[in-house]
Amino acid sequence: MPLLLCCDDETGPAGRLLTALRALDGDDAREPWTLAVIDRHRFPDGEWRLRLPACMPAAVAVYRSLHQPNEKLVELLLAAPAARELGAQRLWLVAPYLAYMRQDMAFTPGEVVSQRHLGRWLAAAFDGLITVDPHLHRVATLAEAVPLGDAQALSAAPLLAQAIVARRPGALLLGPDEESAQWVQQAAATVGLQAAVCRKVRRGDRDVQVELPALDVRGRAVVILDDMASTGRTVARAAAALRAAGAVSVDVAVTHALFVGDALAVMQAAGVGEVWSTDSVPHASNTVALAPLLAAALQRSVRSVAGSGTAAGAACR
Ligand code: R5P
Repeated sequence: MPLLLCCDDETGPAGRLLTALRALDGDDAREPWTLAVIDRHRFPDGEWRLRLPACMPAAVAVYRSLHQPNEKLVELLLAAPAARELGAQRLWLVAPYLAYMRQDMAFTPGEVVSQRHLGRWLAAAFDGLITVDPHLHRVATLAEAVPLGDAQALSAAPLLAQAIVARRPGALLLGPDEESAQWVQQAAATVGLQAAVCRKVRRGDRDVQVELPALDVRGRAVVILDDMASTGRTVARAAAALRAAGAVSVDVAVTHALFVGDALAVMQAAGVGEVWSTDSVPHASNTVALAPLLAAALQRSVRSVAGSGTAAGAACR
């Protein structure tokens, strides 16, 4: 029976994923998914001691959304090979938010291309990866960043589009930069809304300039759609420009609600009304549950590996 592993701080979303997996499998599933929590102990000096179930089935998926990623990456560094030692034969990582994807080139000499190196490391540690709206800008597919045969980049854009159109029918969907075009176009096509994209210049972490597209937004309800908001400055600059140009309302929909520090306050001060997000990153704005999407992808992957759900791991025999 396949096993889902999570840490104690993510039993909520991992539990929702388990429920969705079991719903997909139906009541008569011979081998229902089970969930186990990785026991974490932090030593006084900050190091982790992790304890996994001593007997692993062949198919194991680890749920770890990689916001605030640095500590979590150490957990995965330890847990993935340990899971194999304990019997896992196929190991998936379900990371609704995949960190370090924006550093996809050396912007100055000597800068580490984090996307490439984290991607290679994840590909060595896991057999499959499922994530949502990874920030892929200069590469076309997730497998280019994380070189795995089973690298699934799901999109929340259609789900966010449904949430938007239910609340703001007739809204203009606006991507705050060129990179957001992929999500904005997909969302707009799903529900038949008009879409446009801004131009952005970033000078620093909190220093961005956003130029609106040549479009009359007077009297329009506008929804800014992006893969993520971090400091909220990108959204805030776009919202302020939209308000100045006569938009009647500006709301925000993002897949990943990172919203660090004063992000929400800055966005609200710039004229943002409501904020909607997926539950890839736990936040008060979470509106869209990703569990059904993730479950379908994980079930597909596990079933594509013949016998992976049935064989007992070596340590269990
Ligand atoms: C990058 O291009 C992303 O799509 C977001 O636009 C960006 O990460 C937002 O960052 P911030 O909220 O810090 O402006």
